[in-house]
Amino acid sequence: MARPGMERWRDRLALVTGASGGIGAAVARALVQQGLKVVGCARTVGNIEELAAECKSAGYPGTLIPYRCDLSNEEDILSMFSAIRSQHSGVDICINNAGLARPDTLLSGSTSGWKDMFNCISPGVVETQFAFKLHDKDPEKAAATYEQMKCLKPEDVAEAVIYVLSTPAHIQIGDIQMRPTEQVT
Ligand SMILES: NC(=O)c1ccc[n+]([C@@H]2O[C@H](COP(=O)([O-])OP(=O)(O)OC[C@H]3O[C@@H](n4cnc5c(N)ncnc54)[C@H](OP(=O)(O)O)[C@@H]3O)[C@@H](O)[C@H]2O)c1
Repeated sequence: MARPGMERWRDRLALVTGASGGIGAAVARALVQQGLKVVGCARTVGNIEELAAECKSAGYPGTLIPYRCDLSNEEDILSMFSAIRSQHSGVDICINNAGLARPDTLLSGSTSGWKDMFNCISPGVVETQFAFKLHDKDPEKAAATYEQMKCLKPEDVAEAVIYVLSTPAHIQIGDIQMRPTEQVT
């Protein structure tokens, strides 16, 4: 059953970038659970296909449509929007979540590492594959990121997205700041 306030989004189309894992996958799942049509995109489209099958077998009222798109490639982005426009009635909600981080400092980092990061967005510490990609040469350091405190879960962020969408139409939420209670930096 849809969460109170979410009925008006039923069958509307949401685009979730970075839906192959972490926060994006949790948000895509939550939206499908609330009856939305969700285009989930990322490079690893197989993960989104698995999630779509999972949502279907769970009997969620919405649908997840996997789409392979490398968001660092403008042609991929344009052809994704063109496919959405021709197959659906456009995008009603865009959760532009995809992104990554590189261990590049401002003074010594490579420009390509910075370009990858600037093409993206950012929240507090959420337990996902994020740190393992950031410290891909040091998995112990990555694991330590999530062991030092009780971190946010991707579902916590998804819950905040559903809250924002479920508020009445006259309420505009401009910003939500969430971080683990124990996070000090
Ligand atoms: N978790 C944290 O503590 C944390 C902290 C700060 C910021 N963030 C931000 O939160 C967002 C979600 O991160 P997460 O924690 O869920 O990380 P994650 O588990 O690593 O997931 C990142 C998602 O972004 C997608 N992605 C990355 N580059 C892409 C590209 N070029 N084209 C298309 N998709 C791309 C990945 O898919 P593919 O690799 O399959 O393409 C994946 O689905 C990111 O923007 C990240 O920068 C997270």
